Amino acid sequence: MSGLRVRVLGAGIVGLSVAEELQRRGHAVTVVDRSPAAGASYAAAGMLSPATEVWHGEADLLRLGTASLALWPALADRLRVERRQGGTLLVGYDAGDLQQVERQVALLARHATPADLLDRRGVAALEPGLTRVAGGALIETESSVDPRAVCAALLRRVPVVPDDPASPDVTVVATGSRLPEPWTGLVRGVRGEILRLRSSDPPTRTVRGWIGGEPVYLVPRDDGEVVVGATSEEHAAPPIVTAGGVLRLLTAARRLWPALDRAELVETAARDRPATLDGLPLIGPSGRDGVLLAAGHYRHGVLLAPLTAALVADHLDSGAVEPAVDPRRFERGRR
Ligand code: GLY
Repeated sequence: MSGLRVRVLGAGIVGLSVAEELQRRGHAVTVVDRSPAAGASYAAAGMLSPATEVWHGEADLLRLGTASLALWPALADRLRVERRQGGTLLVGYDAGDLQQVERQVALLARHATPADLLDRRGVAALEPGLTRVAGGALIETESSVDPRAVCAALLRRVPVVPDDPASPDVTVVATGSRLPEPWTGLVRGVRGEILRLRSSDPPTRTVRGWIGGEPVYLVPRDDGEVVVGATSEEHAAPPIVTAGGVLRLLTAARRLWPALDRAELVETAARDRPATLDGLPLIGPSGRDGVLLAAGHYRHGVLLAPLTAALVADHLDSGAVEPAVDPRRFERGRR
């Protein structure tokens, strides 16, 4: 069905992507948000990493993330935003950390995403700045975008208002970790802190490492900026940047990439990741007529944005629902 009046609540990368796709399919869309692009998308590193961001038991997430990764080139072209290629380099600092890399590679091999293990020299050949790691593996298919650039491009294409009293045909709730009733309890906030540094010697691709058991990632941008992330902490209080969080990130990042010692610390930020009980987002019918959800994307909002947009638009076209992310799965569990 086209020509519907749709209101999207939430102008993060998910809400904006949904709005842009619905507009393309002929719907009249308004996005409602008093602080557009200021939530989780503001702090997101922008890794398009379906393989390196999943763990055991997350086969659905890998499947959906891989499908969404395939939609990103067209979206990035349409929005005229850069997609940094070159893959994700997974590295382990010491022998114990290298076992983590090996476990991840073994897991991915079981899901048809093979990657070769690299020794110290193989890693240094790809990223000479990684002078001290024990080894790693390259996942060539992964890439990254700058979520702030993506949101800015989307904001140039879709109308966003602070309030909208008009009653639409359909409302799409895309407010991340803060859902209105009766869906509030489906999502909880998991705080993530990130740093932005400017380096004259940044990595050329996303580097994800374990350093003495501590996970850290470095995501380079074109202007020499490097996003370092991220802490992960369940809490009920508003997200703040903590001294301990910054210390942990900086300590891990400079052990991994010693050149960061000379980098300018440009920004620190903290936001809540919207986490659901099963780690999968809520995309589709809410159980209430005329209300769809597109929320709860946890660590994967940027990656899953184009797939979410397609799933919402497909649902309006044909009624189709992807069972793995059907928001009603929790309702069924309670019955
Ligand atoms: N997707 C990266 C993070 O949540 O930290």
